[in-house]
Amino acid sequence: MSTTLGTPLSPHATKVMLLGAGELGKEVLIALQRLGVETVAVDRYDNAPGQQVAHHARTITMSDPAQLKALIEAEKPAMVVPEIEAIATPMLEELEAAGVVRVIPTARATRLTMDREGIRRLAAETLGLPTSPYKFCDSLAELQAAIDGGIGYPNIVKPVMSSSGKGQSKIDGPSDVQKAWDYAMAGGRVSHGRVIVEGFIDFEYEITLLTVRALDETGHVQTQFCEPIGHVQKGGDYVESWQPCRMAPAALQRAREIAKAVTDNLGGQGLFGVELFVKGDEVWFSEVSPRPHDTGLVTLTTQWQSEFELHARAILGLPVDTSLKTPGASAVVYGGVDALGVVFDGVDEALRVPGTDIRLFGKPESFVKRRMGVLLARAGDVEEARVNAKKAAALVRPRVPTED
Ligand SMILES: Nc1ncnc2c1ncn2[C@@H]1O[C@H](COP(=O)(O)OP(=O)(O)O)[C@@H](O)[C@H]1O
Ligand SMILES: [Mg+2]
Repeated sequence: MSTTLGTPLSPHATKVMLLGAGELGKEVLIALQRLGVETVAVDRYDNAPGQQVAHHARTITMSDPAQLKALIEAEKPAMVVPEIEAIATPMLEELEAAGVVRVIPTARATRLTMDREGIRRLAAETLGLPTSPYKFCDSLAELQAAIDGGIGYPNIVKPVMSSSGKGQSKIDGPSDVQKAWDYAMAGGRVSHGRVIVEGFIDFEYEITLLTVRALDETGHVQTQFCEPIGHVQKGGDYVESWQPCRMAPAALQRAREIAKAVTDNLGGQGLFGVELFVKGDEVWFSEVSPRPHDTGLVTLTTQWQSEFELHARAILGLPVDTSLKTPGASAVVYGGVDALGVVFDGVDEALRVPGTDIRLFGKPESFVKRRMGVLLARAGDVEEARVNAKKAAALVRPRVPTED
């Protein structure tokens, strides 16, 4: 097997289009840039983080099939790499089937993981993997019936189309049901009013198992795993992560089996973030991203090849190295204010905390709960790295610039 890479901005460029150019897409784009790939960063708004580091920036509504088709046909990339879920995935399937473009990892994988239903039914019903008990509901009455019919309390309600905890809430008893339904309806990405209700898993800890499908020297896909990443979520959004996450050997083996089963089925080449809940030796599948995962930002400091480099290499048919460089942690910097063009105080103080590094994503607009940056810390052990990452993150203070 031989991979040929071109010269960007020349007739033989290797051209890759990122659909979604947030902080994760930005790092994938940087990794591709380093390999001399010509990059197109697509987002729904101008000056998205990834658009600032790509050869070409395009702003369209990616959930609109006509706009998506027109752009792909005009740009003619060798591959499209979805970074977000809200994309017209049936159109990607059509274009892939017609041989117009290769979709990473596959168009089918992007469709199945686009909402919670496709992937949950695949994992639980087709593959028989352990998951929380669940039901899909289209009304408040159906939600109540699902809870009364076996899901019980506590449980978690999520819009089928949402991410980062948007519209998601825990129901502890009958008096919370109406509120959770209303919250899901307000927080879902498209207003088709469907939710999943899941029995609450009383896990000890949760991990992301980054799983890479990359070609070996004979041209066959081999599956490799990164060290497990532990993380803490608040309101369904990641606030800190660390690697490696210590696990009982039996639990790690089970986690790998589950991740292998899911990623084998989704297929293609690239990196996947498999989210799992763990209690003792018991492991439940939660969800999977067929692309780099936010909790995997920590790999920018902990691995020889970050999850973004691994993704870039795997999709190009290059070999990958998933090995750990050092224990480390990441901690999120939130906007804290709703404002355009914020400034960040205290970056110098933060970087005086030993072993730290920072990524400021360059998002044009800040929201109180918007992820604007991340602190990375390496240390002799994960505990120290977590303390330092959080300490440093707290020193970075976004604010509205003062007029002068
Ligand atoms: N069934 C569940 N039981 C316990 N905790 C859950 C359950 N589902 C989700 N969570 C918690 O909420 C977080 C976000 O849920 P997830 O399904 O991953 O949503 P998102 O797609 O927004 O990341 C999980 O990482 C976990 O901490
Ligand atoms: Mg998740």
